[in-house]
Amino acid sequence: MNKLGRNDPCWCGSGKKYKHCHCRFDDMLQDFENHGSLVPSRDLIKNEAQIQKIKESAKINIAVLDYVAEHIHAGVTTQEIDQWVYDETVRMGGIPAPLNYEGFPKSVCTSIDDVVCHGIPSPDEVLQDGDIINVDCSTILDGYFSDSSRMFCIGEVSPEKKRLVEIARQSLEVGLKEVKPWKHLGDMGQAIHDFVRENGYSVVQEIGGHGIGLEFHEDPWVSYVSQKGTEMLMVPGMIFTIEPMINMGGPDVFVDEDDNWTVFTADGSPSAQWEIQVLVTEDGYEVIAY
Ligand code: MF3
Ligand code: CO
Repeated sequence: MNKLGRNDPCWCGSGKKYKHCHCRFDDMLQDFENHGSLVPSRDLIKNEAQIQKIKESAKINIAVLDYVAEHIHAGVTTQEIDQWVYDETVRMGGIPAPLNYEGFPKSVCTSIDDVVCHGIPSPDEVLQDGDIINVDCSTILDGYFSDSSRMFCIGEVSPEKKRLVEIARQSLEVGLKEVKPWKHLGDMGQAIHDFVRENGYSVVQEIGGHGIGLEFHEDPWVSYVSQKGTEMLMVPGMIFTIEPMINMGGPDVFVDEDDNWTVFTADGSPSAQWEIQVLVTEDGYEVIAY
């Protein structure tokens, strides 16, 4: 796979000699591949300079979600949230990644109650007391991508829905414990799935997380219903999202036939999702956006 000399510059773009950079890494990766692991291609491994740029992008994403957190309340429309996201992102020098992405018409996804994800902000949609809403922000800064989402409880929310929101949040912690270099993404997927089922909820199968950084959606596709020891190997320099969609009822979903975006639970039960962007490090992980 590589014919690099030990004194040649490393393929990762660090500028370091190969022998001082990804030489040992390549040997380990090859070993895992020989033993049947699905391994990441080189374009999924970010170098230090790229990681810094992606973190700058993520700072904007976090600040935009902080702004939403401060201003969201019953009576605002999801269109107003879209406007806040657009204005704040652009004010800080970024571009909202969803805008015009594969025809998505707005700057943010807003998903209330039985909307699982990809809800389209609308001036006709007013936040009501008791709603739970996911606000999913993604930012491009100088061509580098970040992506994270949070849940908000509007006014007095039922204990049942509050618990759903809390379990969805906790599932990220459960997943993060499994993020370690030279382990498999399925370790995380199974841990999240087991935890959610123990708590009486289901995990959406069809929609998952993704690699991210130089593109909005890169490989790997990340499942949260996968099995320990399967799926792609996690290695230092990989960046992906953890964003399981948790349903109070069954796991089945459908896409709105009119807008081709909005995803609903099939049984009409509420759904919750938090999303973080995670870097695999030499000894574990770093959360880049939350
Ligand atoms: N933030 C969503 C994700 O996690 C983006 C969906 S694509 C969009 O991948 F166009 F709807 F924004
Ligand atoms: Co995402």
